[in-house]
Amino acid sequence: MSKIDVLQVGPYPAWDEERLNAAFTVHRYFEASDKAAFLAAHGGTIRGIATRGELGANRAMIEALPKLEVISVYGVGYDAVDLSAARERGIRVTNTPDVLTKDVADLGIGMMLVQARGMLAADRWVRSGDWAARGLYPLKSQVHGKRAGILGLGRIGYEVARRLVGFDMDIAYSSTAPKDAAKDWTFIADPAELAARSDFLFVTLAASAATRHIVDRKVLEALGPEGMLINISRASNIDEEALLDLLETKALGSAALDVFEGEPNLNPRFLALDNVLLQPHMASGTVETRKAMGRLVFDNLSAHFDGRPLPTPVL
Ligand code: 8YV
Repeated sequence: MSKIDVLQVGPYPAWDEERLNAAFTVHRYFEASDKAAFLAAHGGTIRGIATRGELGANRAMIEALPKLEVISVYGVGYDAVDLSAARERGIRVTNTPDVLTKDVADLGIGMMLVQARGMLAADRWVRSGDWAARGLYPLKSQVHGKRAGILGLGRIGYEVARRLVGFDMDIAYSSTAPKDAAKDWTFIADPAELAARSDFLFVTLAASAATRHIVDRKVLEALGPEGMLINISRASNIDEEALLDLLETKALGSAALDVFEGEPNLNPRFLALDNVLLQPHMASGTVETRKAMGRLVFDNLSAHFDGRPLPTPVL
């Protein structure tokens, strides 16, 4: 029996590619120099898409694949998949929730600590000989016992908050409604009010059209010159122009970011700033978690084509 045709939107680790290649005829979209010509040549037979959270599948791609049945996302966020285009044709969509939650929370906490204690510059202080030449490293302010705000208390936000309990933080959160599992934490519906009472504001919100720029200039101003923004969700949740303006003028203290508009080609204004920590969208990037994500991408595709229930459906 001939293998089913699948479009692979971006690269995966070798172990995932081997598994996909063994089961499917994989068309490597990311290697094509002329994407439209590639889809015109191969689109007619493709029944599945394997993509990544930040790459998704837009309407043009979906419409170029008349036999498409399923889109399997390597990532919990599926905001880059055009869900309306998928829904119109009854195309199934799957993601990889749960398996990455704790890694993403871990990185958020790490980013807070690295940035608050100036650990990157401290490493340079040692390597450059400044330690010997200039003495003690400049003092930073404490992390433990401070006020943390969690914007979006879903699975990832909850794990961030749980970790912050260990830092004796005063925790507040914003979500669609107060959560039973968060009775020790303060519910504040309005993002600007949440920011105003936070030293550290974690953005852990699933992105959608409705959350676009939910962290706007007003929220960032409320966080203020002593505040830190930590984004481990999607860049679209933040008004990046406002963020850059306020970081440049120090009206916002600092930021630690794992996601950017137009990534991996981020706005060069970020590179000139010394009050921002830049991470290459790697919050879920551990061997263990990425293996579990790759397995789920494959299991969802196989389940669909074998006529079994999808392990982790979105649509
Ligand atoms: C990416 C993510 O999929 O889970 C998400 O939504 O954005 C990530 O896990 C990952 O960077 C692989 O591309």
